[in-house]
Amino acid sequence: MLFLFKFLSIVIVFFHCRATAKDDDPIVVIVTGASSGIGKATALEFAKDKRFKVYATMRDTSKWNIQSNHNYTIGNLVVASLDVTKDSSVEAFQKHVLETDRKVDVIINNAGYGIAGTLEMVDIEDAKKLFDVNVWGIVRVLQAFLPSMRSSRPGHIINLSSTSGLRGVPAYEYYTASKFALEGMMDSFRYSVLPFNIAVTNLNAGPVITSFTDRFGDVTAGGIGTRDPSDPSLFLQSLTQRMIESLNQRMQTDEAQSSESVAEIIVNLVLQKLDNPDMTKIPFNMGTSKQSQKLLESVRVVPSGWGDIQRRLLTYIEPLIKQYVVSSNTITTNNEL
Ligand SMILES: NC(=O)c1ccc[n+]([C@@H]2O[C@H](COP(=O)([O-])OP(=O)(O)OC[C@H]3O[C@@H](n4cnc5c(N)ncnc54)[C@H](OP(=O)(O)O)[C@@H]3O)[C@@H](O)[C@H]2O)c1
Repeated sequence: MLFLFKFLSIVIVFFHCRATAKDDDPIVVIVTGASSGIGKATALEFAKDKRFKVYATMRDTSKWNIQSNHNYTIGNLVVASLDVTKDSSVEAFQKHVLETDRKVDVIINNAGYGIAGTLEMVDIEDAKKLFDVNVWGIVRVLQAFLPSMRSSRPGHIINLSSTSGLRGVPAYEYYTASKFALEGMMDSFRYSVLPFNIAVTNLNAGPVITSFTDRFGDVTAGGIGTRDPSDPSLFLQSLTQRMIESLNQRMQTDEAQSSESVAEIIVNLVLQKLDNPDMTKIPFNMGTSKQSQKLLESVRVVPSGWGDIQRRLLTYIEPLIKQYVVSSNTITTNNEL
């Protein structure tokens, strides 16, 4: 087993040297949902380092500059239009990025929102819209960019998951379900990108002070479910109100962190991956605060994500990982390895 891990490290160092030595281009980063909160802070944090070229994407680019409702560039930052629920928007953005930069190295899947309200209080169409952003939005973006990521330098996909992806939360059934879906999907997906030296990390954030909890007026952007649950006792409504209040209260405590502190963690993770080609040293799950890391450790057998269970799964695919090597733009088998 130890041999397998050592072997993987050697293969990955090999890829790393090949990729970085031939390429002085900027490290291309895409951040989704960068109009506000964590996404905006993350795009700005990446832009401080001139080695990165950052696509700060959002549905409405005038949210950053009221004068501009089209793509525009400020230094190494490109503010670009992207609605992760629309195939045409993802296609247009993909075309723009690949025509300009030919590749993508890092994707921060951040766009997302929650709906308060128990299972019966949320209309199924509103729940589907939430999944369209929080789950299918990520799938659309990855399907568009994975082919180019596989043939570029070592990559990293970081997903804004949540402590709500680790355990249920009263009156947040659909938000929790979307983050659990993300966790399960990524836990399988990470093996498919392993030979291409693309790391996957789910960040399990606790409360972060953003507009996330200010959007209660609009059910398609973080509001409260609008369906009447026919509950004369009003327990369901009271439960929902209690949980909204408690989240707002937690936002006033030391437990809540700033978007900027999450952004620093994200950029440091990406730099760690670039400097350390051993994929198994990059966490799969990571809390963004002491409290969220503690919760992660209490629910996961292997909080960082590479333990005996994963090593056993790796043995099934080890011969394949041995064979596959990335060569400039195509994937070929390498019999020397
Ligand atoms: N804040 C927290 O306590 C917390 C905790 C754990 C995890 N998270 C996660 O962190 C991520 C960011 O949330 P935040 O707290 O920074 O909240 P936020 O300030 O409300 O940001 C959410 C972002 O998602 C975008 N978005 C929504 N629908 C979209 C779509 N169809 N296409 C593209 N972008 C879309 C929003 O854009 P518009 O402005 O166009 O609506 C906004 O930019 C979310 O995935 C959330 O689940 C947040």
